[in-house]
Formats: sequence, C-alpha cells, structure tokens
Amino acid sequence: MSRAIYRSVSELRGFSLKSADPMPGPRGILMCPPDYFDVVDVKNPFMVGQAGKVAKDAARRQWEGVRRAFEAAGKPVSSIEPLANLEDMTFCANTCFTGLSPSGERICLLSQMLHPSRRREVAASEAFFQALGYRIAHLRDREAFFEGGGDALWHPERRLVWGGYGFRSNINPYEDIAALFDAPVILLKLVNERFYHLDTCFCPLTSEAVLIHAAAFDAASLELILKIFPMVVSIGEEEAVEAMALNGCVVDGKTVVIHHGAKAASRHIQAMGLEVSHVDTSEFHKSGGSVYCLKNFIF
Ligand code: ARG
Repeated sequence: MSRAIYRSVSELRGFSLKSADPMPGPRGILMCPPDYFDVVDVKNPFMVGQAGKVAKDAARRQWEGVRRAFEAAGKPVSSIEPLANLEDMTFCANTCFTGLSPSGERICLLSQMLHPSRRREVAASEAFFQALGYRIAHLRDREAFFEGGGDALWHPERRLVWGGYGFRSNINPYEDIAALFDAPVILLKLVNERFYHLDTCFCPLTSEAVLIHAAAFDAASLELILKIFPMVVSIGEEEAVEAMALNGCVVDGKTVVIHHGAKAASRHIQAMGLEVSHVDTSEFHKSGGSVYCLKNFIF
C-alpha cells in the first residue's frame, strides 16, 4: 500500500509532523570531482551567458573546500569517478534519490534526467550504490522525468519526503517514492524558472525549521510549508540567486555548509543555534548549483 501524497493543506486531514515516523539521517556523503565541469549550454537561467566562463582551477579548489567542510562536520565523503564529456556530473545530487525503507533496507531510486546530455550520469551512480549493496529501483513510468535529490528532499529526521515538481521532475515519480520508501510525500509546485529544482529554494535545517524563497512556490505549496514547519524563514531573491543561499546542506542537524555570500541565511541559521560552515561555490553558480547539488547522501 502506498502512503499518502499531499498537494494542499485541505488534503492533510490531520497529518502533521507528529504523525511522521522518525528516520535516521545519512551516514556519509557522495561527491564527484569536477574534472570535466564546464558550462557548455543553457539548462537553467543561471547558465545564460556562462558558456566557457568557468575557471577550472578555482572550481577544483572550491570543490575541495566543500569536501573538507563535509568531513570537518563529521561526514565521510566518498567519490565517484568523473567521466569525460559529462560536464554536469559533479552535481551528483540529481542522478538518484537514496534513503531507507522502514526495515532499514537501503534503496536508490534512479533518476530520469530531463536533459539528454545528463542521462549517462545515472549509470555511474547506479554502479556506485549497487556496489554498496543498495536495492536499485527504477521509476514505473519510463517516460517521466525525475531529477533525484535535486527535487526530492527528506524532511530532517523524519520518514517524510518533500517533492518538488514543475521544471525538472513530474508528479508521478512521487507515487513510486511513497510506495518504495513507505513514506508520505508532500508535493511542492515550483513556479519560477530561476528556482528550477527544489533544492534551490527550500533548505530544511531541522525537523522544525526551514529556509525558503517564498516566491518560488505556488500558493498551495507555500501553505503546506507553513503548515508543517513551525519555523519558516524566507530569504530574498537577490541572496537566493546571487549566493544560492537555499542550496546549503545541513549535516546532522548541527552544521550548515553554505556559500559564504549567503549572509542573511547565515544569520538566521546561527540565530537558530546551528553552526555555519562557509565555503565558496561561485564557479558552480555559473551552472546553477552550489553545495547541496554537489553531493548525494549515503545511508
Ligand atoms: N547545470 C546543472 C543542470 O542544470 C545544475 C544542476 C544543479 N543541481 C541541483 N540539484 N540543483 O542540470
């Protein structure tokens, strides 16, 4: 039996955070070195005018900084071998969605990327998670689009998935997620192309607190966020775009690895009693990605 999928507050019918089961967080982080990282076309509005403008050495140093920040926050980082001609492969959040079933089985649901040039990335993540003993799952609808951890985000510490759709992912993959992971899913419709993946506008910090960019969502989605999270802070457009402020990544509900330019977000994070670990991801912003996009989760 698949769990419920919610699209509006009226559908919640009593569902609240209290009814969501606990779930252990990830044990480690997966990254893919930016050996072939580049901007060669326009897949999202961040990439406009950026073709050929990536400073490769700086990107490499910035990527190492993100890796060190995850390790310093207590998460071991594994890496996947980069492949030539796959210029977006360093954004390994997008190739699959990983998590645990209620019995503790580790599951990796493979993505079906919108852009043909990114489809070959998926097999590399599949091989990585298969070697770790994960159960590999495919979407039932082989025509649907789904971009993994870029659009599907676990609620911190809870068996509850937030599912973004509208630009890179369709709705029906979330039925597979609800069934596979035995988890309720709350759907969030993205309406502003600048915020094309959920992880560009929605950054859950703890079970109670989330940073968002409110204008990225339709009214029903915003209402769902406000209903479920006791604390919601919206970051303004300039910081959300220029500093990719909502693409930070929380580690163990304690440390948030985030681009150093995310000034207001950093202040809010600290005011909530969490630590901020600043990194520089400016080269990756040229492609529409920052910390959260540069990693996937190992459970
Ligand atoms: N250039 C990549 C693309 O447009 C960036 C992906 C960023 N990933 C993310 N999870 N937001 O596909």
